[in-house]
Amino acid sequence: MPAGAVFLPAVDGIRGTLQVPGDKSVSHRAVILGAVNDGPVAVSGFLRSADTLATVAAVRALGVPVEDRAEGLVVHGCGWGGLTEPEDVIDVANSGTLIRLLPGLVASRDFLCVLTGDASIRRRPMARVLEPLAAMGASVAGRRGGTLPPIAVRGGTLKGLTHHLAVASAQVKSCILLAGLRADGETAICEPAASRDHTERMIRYAGGTVKREGDADGPGIVRVQPVDSLHMDRLDVPGDISSAAFFVVAALLAPGSEVHLTNVGLNPTRTGLLKVLERMGADIEVQLASSEGPEPTGRVTARTSELSATDIDHAEVPGLIDELPLFLLAAATARGTSRLRGAAELRAKESDRLRAMADLLKALGVEVAEYPDGMDVTGRPHGWRGGTVRSHADHRLAMVGAVAGAASRQGVTVDNVACISVSFPGFVETFAAAGGSSQAAGRAAEAAERGREVKR
Ligand code: S3P
Repeated sequence: MPAGAVFLPAVDGIRGTLQVPGDKSVSHRAVILGAVNDGPVAVSGFLRSADTLATVAAVRALGVPVEDRAEGLVVHGCGWGGLTEPEDVIDVANSGTLIRLLPGLVASRDFLCVLTGDASIRRRPMARVLEPLAAMGASVAGRRGGTLPPIAVRGGTLKGLTHHLAVASAQVKSCILLAGLRADGETAICEPAASRDHTERMIRYAGGTVKREGDADGPGIVRVQPVDSLHMDRLDVPGDISSAAFFVVAALLAPGSEVHLTNVGLNPTRTGLLKVLERMGADIEVQLASSEGPEPTGRVTARTSELSATDIDHAEVPGLIDELPLFLLAAATARGTSRLRGAAELRAKESDRLRAMADLLKALGVEVAEYPDGMDVTGRPHGWRGGTVRSHADHRLAMVGAVAGAASRQGVTVDNVACISVSFPGFVETFAAAGGSSQAAGRAAEAAERGREVKR
């Protein structure tokens, strides 16, 4: 087996009660908004992963002290005036959220901030954030005419803007919202479909004013008013529904499974996968808990299920944008042909996730037809024997490979699992343990460690 590759065995069932690590999107925002908070904010449940630690390093580079304690982070925000010019280029590593949100945070500050990242980041479109920031009054630049990283922002006096998003993107919306907090007058963002609203919730929680007009699931206008200061004392980050999703789908697909995920974030803009799976006939229970913070949380239970095909179109896509690869895998075991459309954005993620999923499914013997904005998948209700799949160094695809292995008859080898540390350090071990195999967990941990060594 090549160095860094891991064999994920077939399992007799995914069982147990699990708490997945903190939500990645909420963790990024806790640090980014915490950096301009009026005083310290204690963040519990913070996700310590490669992406979110890059955000901690970025705000430290902007002069904001962040204490990393056993019980969580303390971000010592001191308003926008506390942000100072970074001495060097900020490296966002693999984090698309960081490179899209940070320019909005610094857009009102008169200093130079240059951002770059890894090879995947340097292919990701940036005009979608740089153009609106320039229209608000910031000076911006980027490689290839301002379309690709590295990018540079020199902030200035900002004026409010009405901006129409070409694609529903929470990252772009959040960047403009952050800039809008320091603009002169209201900033309005028109979105073609509802995307995750963690930034809006956190701004409100900290005393700012953001309102959304329109359909909860459809097009809408998000309006933000400028603020003098934001204030929050503490923030609890719930478990990441996008991480929990791998256990949910593995439990549905592997015979003899019942898994309970506790304290999971259940923000309705993030639970699209659960709705789609229920439509496919999945045995899933969701129990909302009471929550004091900005995000709804609860418990999710999933049991082995026989699934039927379904269709997803553009309106539903933002609610499960990061779970679409998992949906395609679930569709590969469903009765009938499932159709995904309106998902061209998947080609601009950590990898081209449509192309990569088409290859992954074909490697398992599944019949697929790839389209520019989606895919048809004809399910094999009796599953697949196994095989070798490529993660393209994309954390979510590596975890999809693990789920494919659990649901297979003979296991699946994933070529590179080191990338999983971007969002879910310890996934391979947790996953193998939930599959009931401590031997497999041990072997997987060793292989994951070898993968990490290769990457170092
Ligand atoms: C994210 C938004 C999504 C998602 C990404 C995290 C965020 O991107 O794919 O993993 O934290 O705002 P887009 O909003 O650009 O689709």
